[in-house]
Amino acid sequence: MKAAFFMQHGGPEVIQYGEVANPVLAPGQVMVDIHFASVNGADWKVRHGTYAPITQFPYIMGRDFSGVVSALGAGVTDWRIGDEVFGVCDVGQEGAYAEKIAIRSDIIARKPAALRHDQCAAVALIGLTALTAIEDCLALKANETILIQGGAGGVASFAVQLAKHLGAKVISTASASNLPYLKSLGADQVIDYNAQDFTTAISGIDAVFDTVGGDVAKKAFTVLRPGGRAAFIASGNTGPTPPDGKHSLRPNVGRSRKALERIVDLIQKGAVTLPEMKVFALSDAVQAHQISQGRHFRGKLVFKVR
Ligand SMILES: NC(=O)c1ccc[n+]([C@@H]2O[C@H](COP(=O)([O-])OP(=O)(O)OC[C@H]3O[C@@H](n4cnc5c(N)ncnc54)[C@H](OP(=O)(O)O)[C@@H]3O)[C@@H](O)[C@H]2O)c1
Repeated sequence: MKAAFFMQHGGPEVIQYGEVANPVLAPGQVMVDIHFASVNGADWKVRHGTYAPITQFPYIMGRDFSGVVSALGAGVTDWRIGDEVFGVCDVGQEGAYAEKIAIRSDIIARKPAALRHDQCAAVALIGLTALTAIEDCLALKANETILIQGGAGGVASFAVQLAKHLGAKVISTASASNLPYLKSLGADQVIDYNAQDFTTAISGIDAVFDTVGGDVAKKAFTVLRPGGRAAFIASGNTGPTPPDGKHSLRPNVGRSRKALERIVDLIQKGAVTLPEMKVFALSDAVQAHQISQGRHFRGKLVFKVR
């Protein structure tokens, strides 16, 4: 099969496109012929070597996809060949930048007829992450106030809409050109992070969801009320235990068909709109990574795989 992969860590230029061995189907897995895969913030960090070093090559990145079931592993009874499905790779598994993936049958969901493959691939991991952070981890309630950092990004744009749907007041940050976009997602208050430090604009709020990391994440606790909660999915939340009973949380993004079905439901009832998308051929993964790594792209980058 064709895939985008790397043979050593490094910059975007280490990504190659070419022929690799097909995945091997294990019991309980299905083979999915991937139509679209998406680029996530984690991908360039994996390629760069920010996480645990990769030792087995060729290494195929990519965590979410949409496609068609093409083979069933032993014991699989919940899918048939030809079913349209989408999903997120199992924790610790990657490989969606490819024409085929072997994946646990119980963690993928049916692609609804009303959504396209590119749309399902685009929302799978960002939706799962936002749901886990906002509902499970922060347990956000109606009438609470939340700051969502980096609102124009994939996860945060989903989170802004989810938080509004739950009845919270949402404050979000972006550069000036993205402020109208944040408003269109439903944000009640927007902050241009280049013009104003968020710590001078707000205080005493219930929750922070940080998707930016670094120095931005380090300042999260200053805007929380005593007992408030902050959840972090990028770097920067390490350090001493926050004072005044404030909570520092790290969402544990599991995999579940139910959560994927919930994403579809939120979209179909209009609570969450689909992100803007820019489509690349899988053979142009170098270019897509350059854009993703720049960290100022709005919406989602997706690969048309076949
Ligand atoms: N733990 C997990 O399971 C998990 C899952 C998914 C993602 N993540 C992590 O979550 C992070 C976000 O990923 P993503 O793919 O959603 O988005 P992303 O591509 O990393 O974010 C891009 C957006 O960030 C905004 N941004 C950049 N600097 C900013 C700043 N200082 N303040 C406010 N906004 C800023 C940009 O808006 P402007 O152009 O307006 O600046 C841009 O739209 C990544 O670090 C990723 O690795 C973790």
